[in-house]
Amino acid sequence: MSNKAEIRILMVCLGNICRSPLAEGIMQHIIDHRKLNWLVASAGTSGYHNGDAPDSRSIDVAHKYGIDITHQRSAQFFANDFDQYDYICAMDSSNYQNILRLARNESDKAKVHMIMNFSRPGQNTNVIDPYYGEEGFENVFHMLNEACEAMVNTIGET
Ligand code: 4NP
Repeated sequence: MSNKAEIRILMVCLGNICRSPLAEGIMQHIIDHRKLNWLVASAGTSGYHNGDAPDSRSIDVAHKYGIDITHQRSAQFFANDFDQYDYICAMDSSNYQNILRLARNESDKAKVHMIMNFSRPGQNTNVIDPYYGEEGFENVFHMLNEACEAMVNTIGET
């Protein structure tokens, strides 16, 4: 596993404390389970929570499903992340637009995806921000699990 990762994925939301840490944890779990030589990380389009651990509600729902995300720390997304990753997955359309705004060329733009489009192609479904409790963390977990499974099945075949 000292080889360079075959596929490098970055999960991106706004604060990098609720949704994208869950997406990272779920994808890492699948990578470990399937013994893939892939790399996953996460970031936020804002720097509001730089250095913070994930929200305790994300930690709790991940733990419920056997995934530990307590070691993660929030970091901001910057344009040079386009050089480090092959797939940049936005949780919602606002994240998507904010990431695209930092793209420097067509190659950067082509890396940006709405994460739910892997399991619900063409629908541009948002993973609603659960921070203010509009949508439950449990629902976010299941949506992201669905998307991550579909993503591995889709891009793992190419
Ligand atoms: P996330 O949720 O983007 O899923 O990490 C949020 C967390 C914090 C804030 C916004 C969204 N905030 O404004 O502090």
